[in-house]
Amino acid sequence: MKQKVFITRLIPQAGIDILKEHFEVTVFPEKRPIKKRELKKLAKGCDGLIPLLTDRVDAEIMDKTGIKAISNYAVGVDNIDIEAATARKIPVMNTPGVLTNATADLTFSLILGTARRLVEADNFLRTGKWNGWDPLLLLGGDVTGKTLGIVGLGRIGKAVAERAKGFGMEVIYNSTTKFNDDERLLGIQFASLSELLKKSDFVTLHTPYTEATHHLIGRKELELMKPSAYLINTARGQIINEEELIEGLKEGLIAGAGLDVYYAEPNFNKELAKLSNVILLPHIGSASLETRTNMAIIAAENLKNVLFGNRPSHIINPEIYD
Ligand code: GLV
Ligand code: GLV
Repeated sequence: MKQKVFITRLIPQAGIDILKEHFEVTVFPEKRPIKKRELKKLAKGCDGLIPLLTDRVDAEIMDKTGIKAISNYAVGVDNIDIEAATARKIPVMNTPGVLTNATADLTFSLILGTARRLVEADNFLRTGKWNGWDPLLLLGGDVTGKTLGIVGLGRIGKAVAERAKGFGMEVIYNSTTKFNDDERLLGIQFASLSELLKKSDFVTLHTPYTEATHHLIGRKELELMKPSAYLINTARGQIINEEELIEGLKEGLIAGAGLDVYYAEPNFNKELAKLSNVILLPHIGSASLETRTNMAIIAAENLKNVLFGNRPSHIINPEIYD
């Protein structure tokens, strides 16, 4: 009998095709995140699960469904109770690497977009406000030559640093690890978080979301930043205290923000939408056709490997194989 795989939302076909060759595959057919009770019911008796970053996979889901492997369709795995999975010897996998460039590209779009007020400018034109070239119209800040502070120097943080070099930026970073080789290779320098916040013209977040990074940036940190600086977040919403960011933006503690992620997606504080110095995107960091396709292929290959009894390439809890 074929093993069964449940996918919580339609993903690019390339991934589904890989799985269909070997397994009985069910895809949740609705165009919305699956509800917990639906997931418990529909994945029951399945061997493998491909959830999205919007699906909380906790001990109850694991026990009620009896799944044997979880292959997250994301690089971040904060939606999965890793401890519970490890205790049950369930391998948890993710899709690192393939979305690094797309996410770094989007991060740079937000850096350029906030500084040069792209969305505001587009709106200005569309709403018929333009009455001709104006020396003082929509003046923003420069990006070239400015200081970029990268918080979290994983793959994505490094890819952002590479791009920043092309813009002649000075790059400083803060991370739990000091990367001496990368410092030489990329020409970047380590800084304490407070030093980074004080010096940077742009601060961009690239840490995973964990207990340690919960509300890493709040009022106290915004107060350290320059009033002319911008905060960019393409990582996870909960790394920022959203309420305090809104206060800080209203009070002019910083010049603006570029956000792709929010505290309780798809909800976000509607006060944000009232601010013209903020660009708001609906969590599209990895949303290029090529990248989402590659993520589907990796998520499928990871799951296939595990269900075939092999060790997958991208495992979050390798200790279950010890
Ligand atoms: C996207 O946010 C991901 O973690 O893949
Ligand atoms: C994060 O997980 C990264 O790839 O930087």
